[in-house]
Amino acid sequence: MILVGVCGGIAAYKTCELVRTLVRAEHDVQVVQTPDSQRFVGPTTFAALSRRPVLADGGPEVFPHLDASSHADLLCIAPLSATTLSRIAHGEAANVLTATALAFSGPIVAAPAMNPRMWEAEATAENLRLLAARGVELVGPAHGDTAEGEVGVGRMSEPAEIAAAVEARLSTAGSLAGTRVLVTAGGTREPIDAVRYVGNRSSGRMGVAVADEASRRGADVTLILAAASAAPSAPMRILRAESAAELERATLEETAAADVIVMAAAVSDYRPADAFAGKRPKSGEPWHVTLEPTTDILKEVGARRTAGQVLVGFAAEHGPGGVERARAKLERKSLDMIVMNDVSRTDIGFDSTENELVLVTARDERTVSRRSKRACAAALWDAVPAPTAATPAPRGE
Ligand SMILES: Cc1cc2nc3c(=O)[nH]c(=O)nc-3n(C[C@H](O)[C@H](O)[C@H](O)COP(=O)(O)O)c2cc1C
Repeated sequence: MILVGVCGGIAAYKTCELVRTLVRAEHDVQVVQTPDSQRFVGPTTFAALSRRPVLADGGPEVFPHLDASSHADLLCIAPLSATTLSRIAHGEAANVLTATALAFSGPIVAAPAMNPRMWEAEATAENLRLLAARGVELVGPAHGDTAEGEVGVGRMSEPAEIAAAVEARLSTAGSLAGTRVLVTAGGTREPIDAVRYVGNRSSGRMGVAVADEASRRGADVTLILAAASAAPSAPMRILRAESAAELERATLEETAAADVIVMAAAVSDYRPADAFAGKRPKSGEPWHVTLEPTTDILKEVGARRTAGQVLVGFAAEHGPGGVERARAKLERKSLDMIVMNDVSRTDIGFDSTENELVLVTARDERTVSRRSKRACAAALWDAVPAPTAATPAPRGE
């Protein structure tokens, strides 16, 4: 059964369509309304669309929040108002919806909707961080014009998008439960002197999305994060690594304890041979820096891989022939899968919120067409083989 929580906001009218969509997909839907939401859409409408009485404060049930929370597979709150966001973040049981959310231990998908200035408020950001740390999945809000005529981020996502997130969460919830996942993400920085470095354009978004998705699927996730503009939103253990050497050390320490390893970090292939001690003073003279190769961490991990462990690498390829080069890397480094993306394109990859992937395994290759990095991460996990004793032992090189 899916619980659909409705808060007070104009977007509540779109929740009628969400309930219809979920009912059409043959889900049992129980609508839970806050008192304020009933000023926007009445319980009769939701009762008719869901084909069962709405749970609301003052109803005949003695413990509606406890009954609802113990029988549900998922709680979807749409729209999620600023008030209910704050109440849930702080564990308040002020009404039947917030009490249900507090008593519910299953997955929560929430679609916030509010005025753009309310969405940007620091208080909202802090409340969202609290929810994210508990694994609540957010859908939207979207950019556009709001009911009051302001333009910005705050519109509730469309019902079809929310329904798709609910379906995805239902089909994958717990699919990685008991699996220990290690993900590396971000770009390394190799010092030239105390303040300057050689780096790359990785935002870390793709790797962070992979770690988030694994956590949402119930995995026990460790993320080794190099320099990144993205931050994870799902619960996980985070280790920071700045340079290729630090990332190598952390990765090799964590490898043995992982069932699945996804190496998404953009690790520098070269580092300055001699970093200048302190800050090199400015002068008119050229500064020649010799770059020496760094350790191939993916190859090292491949060589140490134990039977049953699954190893996934990323290949940032530039231009034509990328898939062939990625396949050669898959074989050379004893990987189960390599994820190829074309970094010569400006519309996807580095700095972009979207990506397009080719998932290459020994047997086949599958293109994941252009979509959000979050949706790419879901497609990746759908394709990652389960860790089993049947995984070939490392071949080494
Ligand atoms: C016309 C109108 C529209 C509103 N729209 C929103 C909204 O989109 N998002 C929001 O957080 N609050 C909105 N509010 C304010 C909430 O209705 C109010 O904060 C209420 O306490 C929410 O409580 P609830 O979350 O328990 O339903 C709106 C209020 C009015 C009068």
